[in-house]
Amino acid sequence: MHREIDLKNINLNLEPPEEETERQYYFIKKASGYVAELADRLGRRPTCCVTTFGCQMNARDSEKLAGILESVGYEITEDENADFVIYNTCTVRDNANQKVYGRLGVLNGYKKKNPEMKIALCGCMMQEKTVIEKIKTSYKFVDLVFGTHNIFKFAELLTAVYESEGMITDIWSDTDKIVEDLPVERKHSFKSGINIMFGCNNFCSYCIVPYVRGRERSREPKDIIMEVERLVADGVVEIMLLGQNVNSYGKNLENPITFAELLKEVEKIEGLERIRFMTSHPKDLSDELIEVIKNSKKICRHLHLPLQSGSTRILKAMNRCYTKEKYIELAEKIRREIPDMAITTDIIVGFPGETAEDVDETIDVIRRVRFDNAFTFIYSRRTGTPAAAMEGQVPEAEVKKGFDRVLRTVQEVAAGQISQYRGQSVEVLVEGINENDSSMVTGRLSNNILVHFKGSESLIGRLVRVRLDECRGFYYIGTVE
Ligand code: SAH
Ligand code: SF4
Ligand code: F3S
Repeated sequence: MHREIDLKNINLNLEPPEEETERQYYFIKKASGYVAELADRLGRRPTCCVTTFGCQMNARDSEKLAGILESVGYEITEDENADFVIYNTCTVRDNANQKVYGRLGVLNGYKKKNPEMKIALCGCMMQEKTVIEKIKTSYKFVDLVFGTHNIFKFAELLTAVYESEGMITDIWSDTDKIVEDLPVERKHSFKSGINIMFGCNNFCSYCIVPYVRGRERSREPKDIIMEVERLVADGVVEIMLLGQNVNSYGKNLENPITFAELLKEVEKIEGLERIRFMTSHPKDLSDELIEVIKNSKKICRHLHLPLQSGSTRILKAMNRCYTKEKYIELAEKIRREIPDMAITTDIIVGFPGETAEDVDETIDVIRRVRFDNAFTFIYSRRTGTPAAAMEGQVPEAEVKKGFDRVLRTVQEVAAGQISQYRGQSVEVLVEGINENDSSMVTGRLSNNILVHFKGSESLIGRLVRVRLDECRGFYYIGTVE
C-alpha cells in the first residue's frame, strides 16, 4: 500500500540523477531488474523479511524499508528464512544489541542453505564504530550495512549489493537531509506513525540516541500535513506523530512553529479520527499544548511522559532539566486540566550513584502521580555517553533489588488506575483479531488500554462503542454496544 511510482519514464541508460528523490526512483527501477533476474533463477517470487528492534521510530523506518523492497519486487514475509533479510537495529540498551548478534547466527545457518540469500543490517546500532568492526571481523556473511542517516538511500544500496561481491558498508556520521516521498509499506491499513522530526538535542547523560540519530531536525509542517492527508485518503483513521521530543518540534524551522500549533493543523484534517504523539519531554511541555489537547476532539487521552527518576539529585546527573517537584506539578496540572488523560512513563533503575533512597523517591513519584503504566528499565552503560564514565556504577544485585521494588509499585498503582474504568462505555479502534481466541477482536481505547470483545474481522479499522465489563490486570473484556 504505497504511492504508485511511475518508473516507465526512467531511462537506465542515462547516469543516475543527482537530485533526491528522483535518484532513488532510478535505483528502484534498476534494483527491480536484478530482483526479476533472481525470480527467474529461483523460479518464484523472491521473499524478504524486515525485522525491527527498538522504538516506534524504527518501526516507521522499517515500513519505509518494506516499501522499497516491495517496489523492487520482493514479497514480504514474517519468516526470516527468506531471500532478503534486513535487521533494523536498536542500541538504546545492551540487551537489544545482544539479541541482534544472537539472531545473526541463525541467519547464517539459513544462508548456508540458500546461497542467493542476502543479509542487511541498518539502524541505530550501525552508527557505532565498535559494532561495525565486530561485524566486519566476525559476521563476514553480512552483505549490506548502513546507518540511520542514509536510510533514504536504501534502493541505491540494494542495487550495489547486486552489482558487487562482499560486504557493502555505508555509514554517515550525521546529516541535515530530510528526503520526502519514498514508497512506504504500512503494517496496519488503519493506523500509521509519521515522523515529524528526527534526531535529538537533549543529551540525557545515559542516552546514546543523540549520538546515533544525530541533531534534531523538524520536517516542514506542509510536508507533514500532506502525508497525513494522503494516509487518510488511503484509509488511515489514527496517526501517531513521532519524535524523540515532540515538544520541541518546529524550533529549528525557517518559520518556527510550536508542536501545539502543528497539532491544531493536523486536527483540521477531515476523516482523521485519532491523533497520538510520542514522546513528550517534561521540560518542554507547554501550557499551550495542554490547552490544545484539552480542546481537541481527536487527540487521544494518553500522554507518555518519561520520568526516568524521581530523585532530583539523579535527575540532575541525568541532565533531564527538571526536578522531582516540577514533574509532579506538571502531572498534577495535566490531571486537573484533562481528568481523563492517562499518563504513562519510562523509569530507569541503577543509574550511576543511585542509592536505595533515590529509588524511594522514584517510588514516591509513582504513587503520587498514579501512572497508568510504566516501562521500567535497568540502566545500561552505553559507551561514549557521559554516564558511562561516571563513578558509582551500581552493583547488579543492588540494581535488581531497586528494580523489583519499582516494578511492584508500578504494577500495583497501574492496576488501580486501569480498574477504575470498569462499567464505562467507551469508543475503541478495532486493531485486529484476538491472538488467543479468533471469535474475538482487540480494540484500543483513546487512553491506550486494550479491550477484547466478541467480533469479526469486518470490524478491523473501525471505531466502535464497547462496554468495559471485566478488568483483567492490564486489559479489559467487553461487549459491543
Ligand atoms: N526520547 C525519549 C526516549 C527514547 S529512549 C524520551 O526522552 O522520553 C526510550 C527509553 O529508554 C527512555 O525513556 C529511557 O527510559 C530508556 N533508556 C534510554 N537510555 C537508557 C540506558 N542507557 N539504560 C536504560 N534505559 C535507557
Ligand atoms: Fe535520549 Fe534524552 Fe533524547 Fe530521549 S530526550 S532520546 S532520553 S537524549
Ligand atoms: Fe533504539 Fe534507536 Fe529508537 S537506539 S530506541 S531504535 S532511536
